[in-house]
Amino acid sequence: MEETIEFKMKKRKKGEKVERLHTDIPGFDELIEGGFTVGSVNVLTGAAGSGKSIWTQNMVANFIRNYKMKVLYMSFEQPEWEIIDQGFQFGWDFQAMIDEGLLKFVALDSQELFDFQQIDDIKKLIVGGGYQVVVFDSVSSVYDSPISSTQILNSADRGITPQTFMEIRRANITAFFNMIKNLVVTVICIAQKVEGKPGDTTDNVIEFKGDSLTLFDFVEVAEQIERTVRVKKMRKTNINGVTHTFEFTQNGVVVQRKEV
Ligand SMILES: Nc1ncnc2c1ncn2[C@@H]1O[C@H](COP(=O)(O)OP(=O)(O)O)[C@@H](O)[C@H]1O
Ligand SMILES: [Mg+2]
Repeated sequence: MEETIEFKMKKRKKGEKVERLHTDIPGFDELIEGGFTVGSVNVLTGAAGSGKSIWTQNMVANFIRNYKMKVLYMSFEQPEWEIIDQGFQFGWDFQAMIDEGLLKFVALDSQELFDFQQIDDIKKLIVGGGYQVVVFDSVSSVYDSPISSTQILNSADRGITPQTFMEIRRANITAFFNMIKNLVVTVICIAQKVEGKPGDTTDNVIEFKGDSLTLFDFVEVAEQIERTVRVKKMRKTNINGVTHTFEFTQNGVVVQRKEV
């Protein structure tokens, strides 16, 4: 039987309150009026090791444990077993969440991304699976991965240069964002900040297209690593855009009240 996929547009009636998705990360929701707006695209960025993936996995665990949300986690960076294994150190049982049907991990290969067919497949997966939250870790893997030798040969066969192939891949990221913005899902999109490169992420397009931008960083203070988070932009939200410190504890992320 042919499955029909419906597209629900995000529409809010006049006077209706903005719906929020609480992250339940201690100390964070109060910086963003209670949570991410439902249906928004949220960009988390920072250098490697700044804590973006663990932070995101903490939110995923909370969305599922506290609100029974359905989450799709697409990763270029970590295989499923590694995320499951890492979760145990913070008390998150991702395997149980998968078994309950509330969580699905999909490992993506940047070499295969993005032809339009794949964007369409992802769209079908999201809508067909009824996911409420979609994680994408990270968009920079698509932008910055070098093109493989197979792809170079394939593009030569098709009469296009590797540069053109890269451009198509970038163009498809924009197409992917446009597609996902029109779905009623809340998106968490991780991006990398590369040392020495200008801008908060490796590509400005997602900074402009995202409804929110949160920056992660870490500095060495008195021989200790001090981790920081700052919400730089969030549409429809009166943000506290001040830099806050946070820690990884046994139970996950905790944001300190102390502003830096
Ligand atoms: N249990 C833990 N306690 C404290 N720090 C941890 C723990 N587990 C991982 N980390 C730190 O978190 C860092 C990785 O965070 P991650 O979210 O993967 O970063 P990113 O995704 O920004 O590259 C590691 O480099 C490590 O220093
Ligand atoms: Mg990461």
